Amino acid sequence: MQGKFIVFEGLDGSGKGTMLALTAKWLFSNTEYDKILLTREPTYSGVGRQIRKILKSDRDPLDKAKLMLTLYLEDRKEHLEKVIKPALQLGSIVLCDRYKYSTMCYQHAQGIELSKIIALHRNMLVPDITLILDVDVDIALQRIAYERKTREKFESKSFLEEIRQNYLKIPELLPNENIKIIDANGTIEETFAKVKREISKVLK
Ligand code: TMP
Repeated sequence: MQGKFIVFEGLDGSGKGTMLALTAKWLFSNTEYDKILLTREPTYSGVGRQIRKILKSDRDPLDKAKLMLTLYLEDRKEHLEKVIKPALQLGSIVLCDRYKYSTMCYQHAQGIELSKIIALHRNMLVPDITLILDVDVDIALQRIAYERKTREKFESKSFLEEIRQNYLKIPELLPNENIKIIDANGTIEETFAKVKREISKVLK
């Protein structure tokens, strides 16, 4: 069986983590795939750890844009070669929490030219499907506040608003990739029904 590369994207508080876990469980019970890999970017190994440290300590979302871009790219290349591609070759479904679209939306909001970010990803593996979970920023902030008290680098309202708008433009910018915007403002059940519908199409 051929592997499938499925990416979940969206703001923190969009419900990505919940959808990822539900999707893994559903695929495991309802398909013949016997290997399902849950993974994420930034990773927690090597460069990924360095990124996580910066995200925790920095307060200004515009700070260190170029450095962050370099680190995300390095982390992604390693993740692809060491984790994602080997898993796909074994026939796994790879469910990845964030990928290149996060760099396109967040680092562009940090001031880096979008065309440059797109060009830097030109030779990287394109997912079979990418689901962008779209939520109102107020809902995302409520969910973040409910889950934890501390805010990270990118969690101011105006910055999140900009990132949301960047995400909404992604499907038009990359028309040859299979990218779906999913309305994730509703209940978990409502959003998951939409997620299942889209993923079912690429498993046929
Ligand atoms: P997480 O909260 O989903 O674990 O992601 C950590 C933060 O990293 C999140 O605020 C988004 C940010 N990020 C980028 O700015 N660019 C990227 O390429 C990735 C993968 C994440």
